[in-house]
Amino acid sequence: MIEKRQIKNELIPFAEIDDDLQMQTREWRNSPEVAEYFKIPHISVETHKKWLAGMKTEHPDHIAFLLRSNGQNAGVTYFHSLDRQNARGDWGIYVYPPEFRHRGIGHFALTACINYAQDKLKLEELFLDVMENNSAAVRLYESMGFVPTGEKDGRFLRYRLKLNPLSASTEKKKTSSRTESRRDTPPVIFSRTSQPAG
Ligand SMILES: CC(C)(COP(=O)(O)OP(=O)(O)OC[C@H]1O[C@@H](n2cnc3c(N)ncnc32)[C@H](O)[C@@H]1OP(=O)(O)O)[C@@H](O)C(=O)NCCC(=O)NCCS
Repeated sequence: MIEKRQIKNELIPFAEIDDDLQMQTREWRNSPEVAEYFKIPHISVETHKKWLAGMKTEHPDHIAFLLRSNGQNAGVTYFHSLDRQNARGDWGIYVYPPEFRHRGIGHFALTACINYAQDKLKLEELFLDVMENNSAAVRLYESMGFVPTGEKDGRFLRYRLKLNPLSASTEKKKTSSRTESRRDTPPVIFSRTSQPAG
């Protein structure tokens, strides 16, 4: 078994991955092991193309990153429903293939995305919807400070994390001490060519 601290995780902006791989992520998202946890179980080619094109606009309301772990593709994480005027947005993730789960990739991605949301997107609140019986996801989110809003949509619970973009460095310290106490936090690397989040 690979020690978690030996793993190098990365978030690569979709703009830096090739078109075939961008299209391939639809197949991961539609796989039963991922789709079972989402409200929309199947994404059509047309919808996926529209979603990809939507990220090329000047102020996209969604931004996606490829997850890579030790050089291998390991899933996707993304912001969506970004409302820059009200400094809020939603976040999502799927680690794929499933054998990459429970190796710290979700934790790495959420830590990096919280920093990105605060430092780059200047968000004040981050939301997500999670299926009530998705215990792995719920544990991860609650460990990072997300709390239920009390809203429910069918089997999906809504969670919220209050961010602090005005003192991002203070918040980052809080986040890192929170996570370091749990395990060695991998370095946040957004890509080989773009700047790290913080
Ligand atoms: C939910 C998901 C993103 C978590 O990512 P991951 O890389 O597996 O999570 P990590 O390895 O970083 O684990 C982080 C924490 O999550 C929890 N967790 C992860 N897998 C778990 C499991 N199988 N059982 C219980 N808790 C689990 C643990 O609290 C873990 O912390 P710990 O290792 O200190 O105990 C991943 O399982 C996944 O992609 N699931 C399918 C798609 C999905 O559910 N997406 C989210 C929709 S809201």
